[in-house]
Amino acid sequence: MSKVHNFNAGPSILAPEVIEGAANAVNELDNIGLSLIEISHRSKEFISIMDEAQSLVREILDVPDNYSILFLQGGASLGFHMTALNFMKEGGIGAYVNTGAWSKKAIKEAKIVGNVKIVASSEDANFNYIPKEYAVSTNWDYLHLTSNNTIFGTQIKNFPVSRIPVICDMSSDILSRKINISDFDMIYAGAQKNLGPAGTTLYIINNDCLGKSGRNIPSMLNLSIHTEKGSMFNTPPVFAIYTCMLTLKWVKENGGIEAMEKRNEEKAQLLYSEIDSNPMFEGTAAREDRSNMNVTFVLKDEANKEEFDKMCTSVGISGVKGHRDVGGYRASIYNAMPKESVQVLVNTMKEFATQPA
Ligand SMILES: Cc1ncc(COP(=O)(O)O)c(C=O)c1O
Repeated sequence: MSKVHNFNAGPSILAPEVIEGAANAVNELDNIGLSLIEISHRSKEFISIMDEAQSLVREILDVPDNYSILFLQGGASLGFHMTALNFMKEGGIGAYVNTGAWSKKAIKEAKIVGNVKIVASSEDANFNYIPKEYAVSTNWDYLHLTSNNTIFGTQIKNFPVSRIPVICDMSSDILSRKINISDFDMIYAGAQKNLGPAGTTLYIINNDCLGKSGRNIPSMLNLSIHTEKGSMFNTPPVFAIYTCMLTLKWVKENGGIEAMEKRNEEKAQLLYSEIDSNPMFEGTAAREDRSNMNVTFVLKDEANKEEFDKMCTSVGISGVKGHRDVGGYRASIYNAMPKESVQVLVNTMKEFATQPA
């Protein structure tokens, strides 16, 4: 089979070593005569996998000791609701910056729990920028942000410094750049972009902020319980966590966060320069807010779509179709995407521009 360049937005590309390691462990885990997916989650083998995954997150992201690291289920979508249940007091307010479809879903799920204030929004321009002008009030129980807007291709570059808990959905840019964990009280991220397969969601939580909502929270949605039980309240998604652990090892072996960030900047720069200089295309996100993970662009003339799509397919480019809310194209260039694949897309765009009309 010829090489496929995987630009899917999520689930998305994983390093070949990670896929190979995961496949091997499904066959047999570390010569124990059993598959990863048929051993007890309370076995010493799995406990050591969970420990390693948690310590790698702590090491790679430099997570302070008073933060817990959990691998839960339910996707970031359940995180939307759990955020409000665990952080919004009865009669309190959850504040949200609305930067796109995923923020809107977070808002919707929080409204089921209580009062939501939308403190800034870029909906007026189809979410093509990050709103920055808003003041943070100490009357709010928390401020919720979406660091990277997977659909609209925008990314927060500077996070607000705040005296209230800041909670951030980092599903589509976790592990892609250096962040200061102490600027946040909870970070959550569905695994299926930079971390591993779908099936688990990473939570990084400041323990001092837990247990303050005063609500009677069902056990499975109660972050204090998950923290007390070390992410083992019930049977964890063993395959997803193992694969995340392999990805975390891969990140470490490939230079850690600094190296990931540098590579991601280079890849994004390569593609954005082509978009800006090629007469056939234009970017959809405000330049200063452009995402280094999801690069969104459109054809200046939609009539050329069939021809460009055909050229992409012929060189093995897969998954660049834009989301229906934006149209055009979206190239997701997560950590595991090699620069060579971005170069193939850039070359195809160049060649397309030189085709006779
Ligand atoms: C930024 C962001 N938040 C949340 C989600 C939803 O994640 P999940 O499917 O894990 O619930 C996604 C999925 O693409 C996303 O990109």
